[in-house]
Parts: sequence; C-alpha cells; structure tokens
Amino acid sequence: MAKFEKHIFICGNQRPPGHPRGCCDPGGRAELQKLFKQKLAERGLKTTVRANQSGCLDQCEHGPNLVVYPDAVWYGGVTLADVDEIIDCHIVGGKPVERLMMKDSCINTPNCEHKPPAPDRNPDRNVVGTH
Ligand code: FES
Ligand SMILES: [Zn+2]
Repeated sequence: MAKFEKHIFICGNQRPPGHPRGCCDPGGRAELQKLFKQKLAERGLKTTVRANQSGCLDQCEHGPNLVVYPDAVWYGGVTLADVDEIIDCHIVGGKPVERLMMKDSCINTPNCEHKPPAPDRNPDRNVVGTH
C-alpha cells in the first residue's frame, strides 16, 4: 500500500467553557476532522492524505487549528466552510490558503497579540476537567 503523502492534524482538544486559552473543539464532536475525512474520501484521496484528530497543538488562542505535514503549514480559525478550499487549493493544488495561515509570529511563541498573559497559561489546565 502506498504511503500517505500528507497528514492533516486537526486539533480536537476540548476544555471547560471560560478557560482562558479556549480550545479548538468546545463541543467535542470532531466535526472538522470528520468533514475533512469525508471530503478527502469523496475526492478519492483516502489512501494518500490522512486527516487525523490530534490533541492540543499548543496554538489554542488561534483555533480551531490544524497543521498540514510535511508542508508544516499551520491554519487557524478554521471553520467547516473552509474545508473545501483547503483541500482544493492546498492539498490538491499545492497552494496554501493564505487567508487562513497562522502568522509566523504567532506559532510557538510565548507571546503574541492573541495570547493572555503568561500566568494564565498554566499547563496543568490543559486537560478537560482540571481547573
Ligand atoms: S486546544 Fe487546539 S491547539 Fe490547543
Ligand atoms: Zn497570535
């Protein structure tokens, strides 16, 4: 069987309402991941592109987030309405959807305009049910 050419990791992390970092899947239904999976299958891409639900990608303030590898392209604020465009333009067409790409200044940085001050970002609060 052929290897997957791309992986789409879609954050499905859930946190309690009001959590300062927010979360990518407040309803816990993995709707984004399921829709990617369905649309990839419809396009006959099931064996070459894999849409995986992931845990927290640690870019929570920009969510809902996903990342496409091996391209290392990060998307933030992704909605169900964006799925077709990401698949058709990026996954199939090779051209990332710029309007949804996370800024380099936002990725893996302790401070950006979207993040609360450091004391609120206690790693112990990353898991559902811990306050
Ligand atoms: S909850 Fe999605 S990146 Fe952290
Ligand atoms: Zn940011």
